[in-house]
Amino acid sequence: MYPLYKLFKFIFCTLLLINSILCFEPTGRRLHNSVIIEDRLLIFNGNTNATEYTSELFYLDLSKPFDNNNLTWILIPEGILPVYTWRSTAVLSLDNSTIYLIGGYMTNKDTYDYDYSNLVYTYNYSTSTWSIPKLGGDEVPPIQDTKGVIDNSGLIYIFGGYNATDLINNSGSLFNTMNILDTVPNTWTTLSISKNVPFRCSHYTANILPNGIIVYIGGIEKVDNVVGFSLVNMNEIKLFNTNTYEWSQMNATGDEIDPRWYFSSVLTPDGYIIIFGGSTYEIIASVSPKLAILDTNKDPFEWSTQSKSELNSPPSIYGHAANLYNDYMIITFGFVIDTNSYASQVYLYNIKSKKWVTTFIPPDKKTTTTTTPSTTGAFNPIKTPTKKSSKSLAIGLGIGIGAAFLISCIFITIFIVRKRNSVIIQIPGSHRLSS
Ligand SMILES: *[C@@H]1O[C@H](CO)[C@@H](O)[C@H](O)[C@H]1NC(C)=O
Ligand SMILES: *[C@@H]1O[C@H](CO)[C@@H](O)[C@H](O)[C@H]1NC(C)=O
Ligand SMILES: *[C@@H]1O[C@H](CO)[C@@H](O)[C@H](O)[C@H]1NC(C)=O
Ligand SMILES: *[C@@H]1O[C@H](CO)[C@@H](O)[C@H](O)[C@H]1NC(C)=O
Ligand SMILES: *[C@@H]1O[C@H](CO)[C@@H](O)[C@H](O)[C@H]1NC(C)=O
Ligand SMILES: *[C@@H]1O[C@H](CO)[C@@H](O)[C@H](O)[C@H]1NC(C)=O
Ligand SMILES: *[C@@H]1O[C@H](CO)[C@@H](O)[C@H](O)[C@H]1NC(C)=O
Repeated sequence: MYPLYKLFKFIFCTLLLINSILCFEPTGRRLHNSVIIEDRLLIFNGNTNATEYTSELFYLDLSKPFDNNNLTWILIPEGILPVYTWRSTAVLSLDNSTIYLIGGYMTNKDTYDYDYSNLVYTYNYSTSTWSIPKLGGDEVPPIQDTKGVIDNSGLIYIFGGYNATDLINNSGSLFNTMNILDTVPNTWTTLSISKNVPFRCSHYTANILPNGIIVYIGGIEKVDNVVGFSLVNMNEIKLFNTNTYEWSQMNATGDEIDPRWYFSSVLTPDGYIIIFGGSTYEIIASVSPKLAILDTNKDPFEWSTQSKSELNSPPSIYGHAANLYNDYMIITFGFVIDTNSYASQVYLYNIKSKKWVTTFIPPDKKTTTTTTPSTTGAFNPIKTPTKKSSKSLAIGLGIGIGAAFLISCIFITIFIVRKRNSVIIQIPGSHRLSS
């Protein structure tokens, strides 16, 4: 009966033009950003194909259950980005108030030319607006394909990355510098370290352990000036100690993991780094295993692959994003290698049961549903009254008109069902991405 629901949604959203915010259908994308603030999974940036970019900001509400193929994305119209970007990194400030968007291919929205006038943009969650912070300190060149992490004193660490110098032919150089953005005074510091500095590297994953050690996995590197870029051995893990500013290499053991780039990682509270997806270098092809787990509690770290059921397992995807929310690793968007198309649903991995699941169930919430304003007086950005009332107005209006059309919907349905054939109903504006 899923097509029926879609048909209803189509009538509800498209014909009646009810509400572009509640009925937002994002296009598929890759190399985008995703950040969880409170119970919203915010998505922005990315590239939809070689020439098209997106600048909307939208989210998935994680306070409600959902099925991974039936998603309600909600647009934040004020959150539209000031530039088109992809291959950037987005880091949330410690107080959950601000997203730092750093680097990436930035394109001017008016001229469509590459525009590297600002390396960093910030998003103020309480006002839902982007701005350009004034940054002091060292000069940091344009960088793409990094992954930033923030430590518990508010320093964002940006290692290496790619600098596309020929944007037409997409050639460029790699860095191995460590740049630190202090989010309190908003200043950059480029560290000068000479010992154990890793090869020039980008497209890795990065996670910071509670002990302040950043774990860099995979990606591409430049070993010397003679050979080109190559994939990093997944057992050669780079560690950066944020307490001592020292580099070291960890030689991981365990199961064999194909090297990869354009993959994702999340760190679980009990010290496991779960990597997913990615592709081979030069030609885009699947890597194996799709999902692998690095136990950072062991010394040396140890890889393991999932031996349990592959039921509901996603296809091979690259350029997606992954976030951890309670028991769920949530994979959003990306490009499906086998079908050569954008992923149109999310994938959910339960880190407790170690299984792919299709339903998201939010953690138990307090039974009261947000009618009482926060008494803490602290930062509480979600409930701006205007947004709330316009949303409930929209819902009320939607339900009202929707109900009026329900009858006609039923008639259409009866008509279709009575035809009893396998005609596929094409729904304009649906998630499908025709390329
Ligand atoms: C899809 O999700 C909506 C809202 O979450 C729900 O009302 C609807 O019943 C779901 N449809 C299907 C087919 O599960
Ligand atoms: C920020 O969000 C995280 C995760 O939801 C939470 O654990 C933390 O307490 C929040 N920090 C502040 C200052 O609200
Ligand atoms: C976000 O905007 C609010 C309202 O203008 C302001 O009070 C707050 O300081 C801003 N937050 C940051 C981190 O700039
Ligand atoms: C990085 O690339 C830009 C062009 O986008 C170029 O102007 C700059 O010199 C490069 N910087 C370094 C350090 O390679
Ligand atoms: C891109 O590559 C082509 C051929 O490989 C070359 O002719 C052209 O000059 C390059 N473009 C730039 C901007 O270097
Ligand atoms: C890791 O392996 C390299 C050689 O591949 C070796 O030089 C290095 O000492 C090893 N590191 C540790 C911590 O065992
Ligand atoms: C990119 O997407 C747009 C709109 O979705 C489409 O018109 C265009 O043909 C696509 N281009 C390529 C190269 O796929």
